[in-house]
Amino acid sequence: MFRFSLPTTIESAGSFGEFAERAQLAADDLILTNQFIYEPFIVACGVPCPVLYQEKYGAGEPNDEMIDAIRRDIPESTRRIIAVGGGTVIDIAKVLTFTGDWSAEDIFMGRVVPTKSRRLVVLPTTCGTGSEVTNVTICELKRMKTKKGLALDTMYADLAVLIPEMLQTLPYQFFATSSIDALIHAVESFLSPNASPHSEMYSRRAMEMILQGFSYVRENGPESWKDKVEDFLLASNMAGIAFGHAGCAAVHALSYPLGGAYHIPHGEANQLMFAAVMRRYKEKEPVGRINRLEEIFGEILKTDAVQALDALYDLMEDILKRKDLREYGIREEELPVFTDSVIEGQQRLLKNNYVFLTREDMLEIYRSCY
Ligand SMILES: NC(=O)c1ccc[n+]([C@@H]2O[C@H](COP(=O)([O-])OP(=O)(O)OC[C@H]3O[C@@H](n4cnc5c(N)ncnc54)[C@H](O)[C@@H]3O)[C@@H](O)[C@H]2O)c1
Ligand SMILES: [Fe+2]
Repeated sequence: MFRFSLPTTIESAGSFGEFAERAQLAADDLILTNQFIYEPFIVACGVPCPVLYQEKYGAGEPNDEMIDAIRRDIPESTRRIIAVGGGTVIDIAKVLTFTGDWSAEDIFMGRVVPTKSRRLVVLPTTCGTGSEVTNVTICELKRMKTKKGLALDTMYADLAVLIPEMLQTLPYQFFATSSIDALIHAVESFLSPNASPHSEMYSRRAMEMILQGFSYVRENGPESWKDKVEDFLLASNMAGIAFGHAGCAAVHALSYPLGGAYHIPHGEANQLMFAAVMRRYKEKEPVGRINRLEEIFGEILKTDAVQALDALYDLMEDILKRKDLREYGIREEELPVFTDSVIEGQQRLLKNNYVFLTREDMLEIYRSCY
């Protein structure tokens, strides 16, 4: 049996102004964004609603203290939240649609089941998370020193608006980390035992667009990614639809302690784990869905299926260079601690693995990246 539904309406627009007019922004809306996105794209539109800058509440990806502080500044009358930013802004905005008495830690630990009482409109400005079409939000819990994902159907955005122009200011580094994240969403959801014919189709199209784009960037230089910005934005959206249905797995699970304890950006942390997880899958179960994936990569990268995964790792490496875990200051004795925290806290993801990974497998994966 499979089931496929998409509660979020997806639209495109040529500019923020076009969106603002169509959405009839009003005083009881609230824009959550960054100042460096507001100034080039939004200020000239003269929006009639309050604006909060996420970076005023702390640097980096979301954490529970940041969410609690932003929440205190939201006007009571807010009816609709307009999130304009990368996964950081979007994931925070999802939690802010809840009113009532809660702390972010309560919500992420499942101690309260919050009620959604504001609508959510999302304009992504990176090409990675697909968060505009998922029911997932991810947050660092400061006291626990890890990241935790939460999936609740009340967190689907009501509307997602894709505006390629809004990615024009994105630095190469964040293009690279976010598009690699999107590629890994497509791959992990393709391999997931929960994949359906529909999620597979979205995974596959996302992989094609991202890898064709990466090949173009390899030939034409880093800044040429902007020639393909529409493809990258659409691909991250499709990969979001795919993993929103079939789920992510071990690559994401193992990357969370790296993001939580060492603040390695999400896409970069995923890239660190990706090849090692895929190699372990291949060793443990060489015959299965992974062969279909090898054929697909072979077709896209114009190589034999047998060499396709290596060709893929090389291409990813050209987009974003991988470092060893030790180069981030991680200590070897932390690897078993990371492994145990993954087993304890990331079963939501581990259940989607291509093949079951034991504690020893996961520890070996970390060690091979050390
Ligand atoms: N909810 C989900 O389904 C989901 C899925 C994957 C990842 N995530 C989460 O998303 C976060 C990562 O999101 P991300 O990769 O989009 O990065 P991000 O939102 O952290 O943005 C990366 C950097 O780019 C800047 N930036 C964003 N858009 C810009 C633009 N147009 N111009 C200039 N600068 C810009 C940001 O301010 C930030 O400094 C992580 O916390 C991750 O855990 C969520
Ligand atoms: Fe991700």
